[in-house]
Amino acid sequence: MNVLVTGAAGYIGSVIVADLISNGHVAIALDNLSLGHRNAIHPNAIFVPCDLSNFDQVSSVFSTQEIDAVIHMAGQSLVGESMQDPGKFFRANILNGLNVLEAMRHHNVRKFVFSSTAAVYGEPTEIPLSETSECAPINPYGASKLQFEKILPWYLTTYGIDYMILRYFNAAGATDTLGEAHTTESHLIPILLETALGLRSKFEIFGSDYNTRDGSCIRDYIHVSDLASAHIKALEVISQPTSRIYNLGIGHGYSNLEVLEAARAITGLPIEATIGARRSGDPPVLIARADKARKDLGWSPRFVEIEHIVNSAWLWKKKYPNGYVD
Ligand code: UFG
Repeated sequence: MNVLVTGAAGYIGSVIVADLISNGHVAIALDNLSLGHRNAIHPNAIFVPCDLSNFDQVSSVFSTQEIDAVIHMAGQSLVGESMQDPGKFFRANILNGLNVLEAMRHHNVRKFVFSSTAAVYGEPTEIPLSETSECAPINPYGASKLQFEKILPWYLTTYGIDYMILRYFNAAGATDTLGEAHTTESHLIPILLETALGLRSKFEIFGSDYNTRDGSCIRDYIHVSDLASAHIKALEVISQPTSRIYNLGIGHGYSNLEVLEAARAITGLPIEATIGARRSGDPPVLIARADKARKDLGWSPRFVEIEHIVNSAWLWKKKYPNGYVD
């Protein structure tokens, strides 16, 4: 299959591109490189620079490339930033996505896999969260992703665009060559490892007064290679799906303090930590009910222990302490 991946130079997109290629697909890697890294894109991918806010540019990608399916990863994803600048998120995550859908229907491309998020659920009313749990986002990031999810059934009804929505829990870890290197890093595991390497002077736990087993927030960490393999499985069944919305998580939560301890154990370094205030927009617990993707997609995550996930991230971080050199 010829698969267009938007956001292909990003943390998860780059791993999906590599996985597509190793599974014999052609990967057309689209990115504007505003957040992603050119060097993260697999050398055998077809790199297409493109700004998704410009419909003519998007449409010309579909005119010049043979495309059978789209995996739409591009977007804005920092929860904290979304609280400061919601319009940026609604533009990037809704309007730019619409340009992709419109170009698809004009060029008769009818398979669409959408990168969504656990942030659509907001403050959970039940744990674990199943795909039918209530969606009530508490930040513009989650709201923008949920709005776009709601557009997709109309493109199926009207234009026959088959879709699959994958709601990621906390993506983490690295492959041998690809890892997490955001320009502005806000994620727990890379920050812990940068602190271990001495690239940051301190690490702060955001809140210790949550109603959880140790007072810190709990998250469900899923390895980036397992996320990638779920996309390949989704593409295989997208024309005859059992369902169209899947949680991608492990189904087990680790608290921030437990992740800190895992990082200390893996690195063998003390990693000094202080307890700070809560971060706005953080739900206390996010854990997936994750059996539906296993059953319907025939997907089975390889990394289920936080130590293995942190270890993979640590091996990459030691090899590439400064991330990608573009
Ligand atoms: N945290 C700290 N200190 C830090 C950084 C993070 O204590 O320096 C805490 C956060 O407060 C949170 C936990 O670590 O409790 C995880 O935070 P991340 O920033 O790593 O991840 P989030 O859970 O905020 O968000 C991630 C993705 C979102 C997605 C969400 C869904 O970035 O896009 O998972 O679970 F919506």
